[in-house]
Amino acid sequence: MSKNTDELFKNVISHAKEYGFVFQSSEIYDGLSAVYDYGQNGSELKNNIKTYWWKSMVQMHQNIVGIDAAIFMHPTTWKASGHVDGFNDPMIDNKDSKKRYRADQLLEDRIAKYQNQGKTDKAEQLQAAMDAALKTDNLTALRDLIIGHEIACPISGTRNWTDVRQFNLMFSTQFGAMADDAEVIYLRPETAQGIFVNFLNVQKTGRMKIPFGIAQIGKAFRNEVIARQFIMRMREFEQMEMQFFVRPGTEMEWYNYWKQTRLKWHKALGTNPEKYRFHDHTKLAHYANAAVDIEFEFPFGFKEVEGIHSRTDFDLSQHQKYSGKKMQYFDNDLNEEGKPYGNYVPYVIETSIGLDRMFLLTLVNAYEEQDLSEGDKKDSRVVLKLHPCLAPVKAAVFPLLKKDGLPEKAREIVSRLQLDHNVAYEEKDAIGKRYRRQDAIGTPFCITVDHQTLEDNTVTIRYRDSMQQERVPVDNLDRMISDLVSWKNLLA
Ligand code: GAP
Repeated sequence: MSKNTDELFKNVISHAKEYGFVFQSSEIYDGLSAVYDYGQNGSELKNNIKTYWWKSMVQMHQNIVGIDAAIFMHPTTWKASGHVDGFNDPMIDNKDSKKRYRADQLLEDRIAKYQNQGKTDKAEQLQAAMDAALKTDNLTALRDLIIGHEIACPISGTRNWTDVRQFNLMFSTQFGAMADDAEVIYLRPETAQGIFVNFLNVQKTGRMKIPFGIAQIGKAFRNEVIARQFIMRMREFEQMEMQFFVRPGTEMEWYNYWKQTRLKWHKALGTNPEKYRFHDHTKLAHYANAAVDIEFEFPFGFKEVEGIHSRTDFDLSQHQKYSGKKMQYFDNDLNEEGKPYGNYVPYVIETSIGLDRMFLLTLVNAYEEQDLSEGDKKDSRVVLKLHPCLAPVKAAVFPLLKKDGLPEKAREIVSRLQLDHNVAYEEKDAIGKRYRRQDAIGTPFCITVDHQTLEDNTVTIRYRDSMQQERVPVDNLDRMISDLVSWKNLLA
């Protein structure tokens, strides 16, 4: 990260705290590493992102329905899915600092260093050696690479390393009131399995016909070895996932469809398209036959925000095997040699986006520091240029003065608008200061009630991005806000 982008990112993080978007969890006890709370504006923004996703995935697709599965699941779920045996990160400890690192991350950092130094050959060689070691789970080879490339602990500066060990990322807890009969269960590391185990419940009760999808938004938990970059990598986070069940053999067609559809969803928000790119996986997870990430250019580089995975019939077949229950679909379409007609385990295309990462993307993308100085008159503002549909507060209503009946009139306007919209009322400080506070949280409209309002029932409206003002009748406000924040603007 260059000094500028580094500083910009730091500013975004302090802005998020200062304006009630994101707080460190249990801050009064010095926080809990990689766990965060969303404040008064953050929770609104997060809910709006969820709504945008839910509407575009569920409401706009007649063949996709949503569920809300429990976080706790039968422990066999995670044996079947492969998480008990395979959901690991290779970790290594420095014996002097007692700090723990992800072995692959230490190597990634060294590869980046070689690249920055123009040592491309060395970077490529190390990348290839690391990929080979990870693919074969060769932990000794990973350690040898760390030693061979003279990687030192950033804290102690020494190269006194332990062996590399596998570290399972799932959190476990006791289930049941009595210690004796308590069973170890896991906090789900992905929401997807809640969908797979309900595949037949939803298919049968919803009379769903293939191809169809099941969507879900919910918490997931991973005991990440390293957590960094604010809410980018958390131990408790939220996912928005959709599993799309298809006929075997048609999965690549649907994989491409979802790849394009999901990128369109991102771009509809008006983000600079150059900030997005696809990154095809070369190392595929055990369950996938194709996988791609949608990456966004954060201040710290291009990083994954969403994954689209062709998961084959792996999950349903595994649940069929471990539960002894048939996880099959009777397809009575096609034939006269167009095939199906009969039972099969469907193939699955998954779209999986991290809600918190999407939140960070939205914040980083919207954050703008503007110099508004004119001649000797210094002025500046921080504005969040959020899409109006995502803005936490849709409009703020200000009485120009705290007297002459203006507060009463302003409150009357708030009471009307708040039936449909999240609106704020502010009477403290000069109007300019109130504008700045609303700019900082991304409120698209500020409405000022003055003496003229009492005479002709008009107000001034001030637009966040252009800072232009115009006079409009109070009776038009509801319609103007509704038009601006209509989901049609994103979904049509
Ligand atoms: N069901 C597939 C799955 O979970 P993943 O690539 O491990 O795939 C999907 O996760 C998305 O979840 C990622 O693209 C990322 O946005 C988000 N995610 C994963 N781990 C995260 C973490 N520790 N903190 C925040 N978001 C995370």
